Amino acid sequence: MTNKPKPKTYGKKRPVERIGVEDRKIMDSTWGYIGNAERFAETYVLDLKLEPMSFLINSKNPKEQVFIAGPGMGEEIKLLKNYVKSKSGPELDVETFALTNNLSPEAKKQIKKDYSLGFALDHTDLRDPQQLRLFKKFEKKFKLIMATKSTSFHTQYPEYSSFLLATTLKSGGRAYLEILNSDSIRFHSRVLLEKRKEETDPQRIQRIDDVLNDSRKLLLRLKKIDAVILRMLSSYYKKPLEEIKKEFNIKQISGEVTYPVFFDHIERFNSTYIVIDRK
Ligand SMILES: C[S@@+](CC[C@H](N)C(=O)[O-])C[C@H]1O[C@@H](n2cnc3c(N)ncnc32)[C@H](O)[C@@H]1O
Repeated sequence: MTNKPKPKTYGKKRPVERIGVEDRKIMDSTWGYIGNAERFAETYVLDLKLEPMSFLINSKNPKEQVFIAGPGMGEEIKLLKNYVKSKSGPELDVETFALTNNLSPEAKKQIKKDYSLGFALDHTDLRDPQQLRLFKKFEKKFKLIMATKSTSFHTQYPEYSSFLLATTLKSGGRAYLEILNSDSIRFHSRVLLEKRKEETDPQRIQRIDDVLNDSRKLLLRLKKIDAVILRMLSSYYKKPLEEIKKEFNIKQISGEVTYPVFFDHIERFNSTYIVIDRK
């Protein structure tokens, strides 16, 4: 009898991101990153120089599918649809996915479907039949994916979230996925080190140490994030890396907006976007 090799599996249970989701879910109510109309101006207009809209307007199709991952209130959705319509671009079917459901009543009217299941994208386990079904449904579906300060940002595993979203791009589709910027991580670590000096509660000290440790690991991994996403795609599609590199092009672009945030410090926050194009 021959020993069959174990099939490769995708996805695994991971701890909830320690820097982000848990704290930021609470902080979102006081932060500016809540998917309000100003965020459309900051991200689509200032950071991305109207590129997502131009990309859609250039489409020859009368209708296109758009995926907004982590929309928060989702005020961008109406603005995006109206802008593209005003330039005679395609009609947009918008679908959303988020950990927390904060969509405003107006945003709910603008979308076709919200797929939020109450779990973080990076917790997706493709061995779970319900989650696998969802991703099979999304496979090669979207012309444009937008994830600003969301699924590839509030996570220790931006490469996994980005890989999952890349599988949902249709041929000729494009994703803009905002990730934590190395400068910002270094800045936050310095702030935390200062806080640690004043801290006396052992539990809080442990928590700061955990976050610093996660940040160090993430900093190292961010250096090769593009290559890792491509390797994940190669493994998922069982195609040689060279073939995957022809199908998926990944580049990084930086945004320029300054945000005043975090523990009373004013920070120059140069954002970074992973841009994935699928042939
Ligand atoms: C800070 S708000 C950002 C809202 C908006 N995109 C913006 O840029 O203002 C984060 C959004 O992403 C979602 N989110 C954060 N981390 C996530 C994760 N790991 N998986 C799925 N959704 C996540 C939250 O539920 C929320 O909708």
